[in-house]
Order: sequence, then C-alpha cells, then structure tokens
Amino acid sequence: MREQARAVLEAHWRDGFTVPNADVYPWQWLWDSCFHAICWAELGDPDRAISELWSVFASQGSDGFVPHLDYRRGPYPHDEFWQRVATSTITQPPMYGHAVAELERRGIPVPGGIVDRARRGLLHLLRDRPPTPGGLVPVLHPWETGCDDSPRWDAWCPGGWEATRWREVKGDMVGSLVMGGAGSPVSNPGFTVGSVMFNALVAFNLAELASVTGNDALREEAATVAAAVDRRWDPTATTWVDDSDRPGSAATPTAEALLPVLVSTDAVAVDAAFAALTDALAFGTRFGPAGVHVADPAFSATTYWRGPTWPQITYLLAVAAQRRGRPEATRLASALVDGAVTSGFAEYWNPDTGEGLGAVPQSWTALAAVAEGWLRTG
Ligand code: GLC
Repeated sequence: MREQARAVLEAHWRDGFTVPNADVYPWQWLWDSCFHAICWAELGDPDRAISELWSVFASQGSDGFVPHLDYRRGPYPHDEFWQRVATSTITQPPMYGHAVAELERRGIPVPGGIVDRARRGLLHLLRDRPPTPGGLVPVLHPWETGCDDSPRWDAWCPGGWEATRWREVKGDMVGSLVMGGAGSPVSNPGFTVGSVMFNALVAFNLAELASVTGNDALREEAATVAAAVDRRWDPTATTWVDDSDRPGSAATPTAEALLPVLVSTDAVAVDAAFAALTDALAFGTRFGPAGVHVADPAFSATTYWRGPTWPQITYLLAVAAQRRGRPEATRLASALVDGAVTSGFAEYWNPDTGEGLGAVPQSWTALAAVAEGWLRTG
C-alpha cells in the first residue's frame, strides 16, 4: 500500500507540489494539496509535506483568502473564465489546519509562516464573509465545498439537475461573485449557502490549528461555528441541513453533510450519523460510505458526486470515528484501503463494487496509506 501510494505521489510531484492527476487535474487544488501534505508526512518525506503547504499559500490574498486553484507557472487556460490570471476566484475547504496539526503530531516542525497563513486563511472566512442567518460561513459557489455536483445544489439548477446544464449554471455563478477590497470574493447574489459540510470543516480546522498552537481564540471560534452547525441537525432527515433561502435539496442525505461528526457536541446526532454511515440501507456500502443515501431518488452509484464513494470524505469520517473511539473507525479505514486498491487509486469509486471512476490514479487516494497505518498499528 505504501509503495503504491508513494508511486502515485511521485509521478504527480511537480517541483514543489503534487498535482491531483497528471491529465485531468494538472494544476494545484487547495484541499487536495492539504491531503497530499499529510500523505507525504505519512510516507516519511517531511520536506515535500512542508513544500506542499507553502505552495497552498503561495497565492494567498492580503486579506487571507486562499484560492482553490493555482495554475502556478502557467499557461493560464481559464483566465477569462476567472477574470484573473494564475488563480481561481473561489476557495475550497480550509483543510490546512488539519494538515498543520498532522505534521506537528508526526514530529515535523511546521514553519511559523505557514501556521500564520493558515490562521489568516481561516479568520478571513469568519471575518470577511457576512454570515448566513444561521450564523454559518457562506460558501459563494458550489465548487467551494469541493462537492461539485452534490444533489444538495439541485435547487439551483433550473429544471432539475442535468450535467451539461449544471456546468453552465456553475459558470454563471462565477460571474455573479462580488469581490471585496482585497479582490477576494465576499458575497454572491447567485449562490449563498451555509453548507454544514464546509462549516464543519471550518470548525474542525480551527480546532486542529488551536490544538498545536494553543491559541484559545481559535478554539473559541471553532466551538462557535460547531454550535451553529449543530443547531442544523434534523433528526427526522438524519442529517445536518444546509442554511439557504432555497431549502429544496438542503436536507438531501449525503455523506459529506455528515462531516459534522468531526466537531459535533450532540451525542444523539453523532450516534445517528454513524449508524446511517454503516447501515446497508443508508450509506453503508461495501467500499466506504456511498456519497448519497442509497434510497434517495438522486442516488447514482457511478455519477460524479451523486453516489460514488470519495476517499477524502471516507478518511475524514474515519478520523472522526477514531478520535471518538468508535468501532466504525476500523470499518471506514478498511473500506478506504479496499476501495483504493480495487479502484487503482481512483479519484472516487463505485460504492458497491469498488470500480474506479473519474481520474485514475488520483493523488489524494494515497490517504489510504494513512488508513492502512491505523489498521496496522491498531
Ligand atoms: C474535482 C473535485 C474537487 C477536487 C478537484 C481536484 O473538481 O470535485 O473536490 O478538488 O477535482 O481533485
């Protein structure tokens, strides 16, 4: 497992960072690189782990904003689309707090400059984006969650979700972004959602950064965001529900919307979420949690973000289970390892068969080496 993971990452290393896939994703993506840093650390390459994190922040704005996509040395094929050269105008889940903490926990000293950039990145989201009515950080584009075609966004696709139409709508939503003084997005009349997934990761990354820096202010911010997420638990739907003015699909049960198990203080909700994640009639498929509840009309085992298992989501759910000392940790970690091997380290896979889907191989699937380490060492 470790050799395969290393081979995938080595093949994708590009002078300072790792591309998710050489053909499909030949640039740098924010949350991918945070996961890559953890993988490099796990595989005993602290220099690349640190380099990967420096590279995440290479294009950070003066206000702390971190773009989700960095074309690095060019060419810049999408400059017209983003209305700027070299980077995108949206962000992605701020997984750098967790990455910093994972490196430190492995005995890799993280330079103060990276820790400071991570802190500023998180505080920018809290300070510069007006919160949703429910007190959550708004995402200003579906891509900011990293879950591009989740059925949670179907209420924004006129006539119901259809892949081509949705791609066009997502393009229009880039056009309606409103930039703040520092040139970073602060609102979007075309799309403003308090995603419980994104906010759970904001809270988790704040807490992770606080855990290695001892910064109590960050810890308090984490608790505030986590509490706002917990107020959105719906016991009937067995999910945390997104905060938006278009409720439509906000409660569609998806695996990523159960990521609040990372930060929730609601024991009943956490028990219910883990029960659903391992129930064969809900999300509990053979090769890791299905991306969408298998009985939901939107579920499709092979469609991008509408049913397949995603390795980075499985990894995060396994982290949550492990930290809570829950028995589901082993099952989630095993499923991640089995899915990675069966799919050929695919970007995502069929939850029932493990058939590889999307880009193959994909760098973040090297997270399976971390899971394999947990299983080996108990
Ligand atoms: C896809 C995924 C996104 C990921 C990117 C690069 O766009 O939806 O989450 O960051 O690929 O792997």
